[in-house]
Amino acid sequence: IKLGILASGNGSNFEAVAQAIDTENLNAQIQVLIYNNPDAKAAIKAKNRGVEAILLNHRDYKNREKFDGVLVQTLQNYDVEWVILAGWMRLLTPVLIDAFPEQIINIHPSLLPSFKGIHAVEQALAAGVKITGCTVHLVCLEVDSGPIIMQAAVPILVDDTADTLHARIQIEEHRILPQAIALAAQRRSLLLNHV
Ligand code: GRF
Repeated sequence: IKLGILASGNGSNFEAVAQAIDTENLNAQIQVLIYNNPDAKAAIKAKNRGVEAILLNHRDYKNREKFDGVLVQTLQNYDVEWVILAGWMRLLTPVLIDAFPEQIINIHPSLLPSFKGIHAVEQALAAGVKITGCTVHLVCLEVDSGPIIMQAAVPILVDDTADTLHARIQIEEHRILPQAIALAAQRRSLLLNHV
C-alpha cells in the first residue's frame, strides 16, 4: 500500500512507520511526507531516509479549502492511497476527506472519545484519570472522531508531567500506528473483494 504521511512536528510516528516498513512488519511504501511547518523535524527525518519531503505552508493559502486542494493534488501526484495524519495540527475540510474516502488515518494521544483536541495529554492529567492511552482511527469531518481501528492503554503515574506522560504514550503510538495501518488496509481489501 502506498502511504502519504502528513506531519507538523517531530515526526516520531513517521519514523515508527518507516521502521516498521524496513523490518517488514508493514508491507507499504511511503510515497511522500508533507509538512506544513517549516521547522518540522519530521522533514529532516524523511530526508535522512531518502523519502521525498514537501513543505506546504498553510499560511500561503487563502483558506482551508484552498490549502486542502493543494494537499490533495500533491498526494495524488505521488500516487498515494492511504493518508496518515501523524501529528498533523490542521483542521481538515471535506476537500481532503472526500478525496480519500475512509482512507485517512489519524493518531491521537488519548483513549477517544475522551480528551479530544490539541491538549489531550494535559486534559487527562487534569481529569485525574489513572489510565489514558492512544487511539488510531479513521478520519471523518468531526475532529478526533471516526471509527476506531486500535487503541492502547497507558497508566498515569503519580509524579507524571505532561512531558513524561506523553513520552510513555508515544511508545504505544509507535507500536500501534503501523499495526493499525496494516489492519485498516487489510480490512478494506477484504470488503472490496466481497462486493
Ligand atoms: C502524537 O502524540 C500524536 O498522537 C499527536 O501528535 C503527536 C505527534 O508526534 N497527534 P510525532 O510528531 O509523531 O513525534
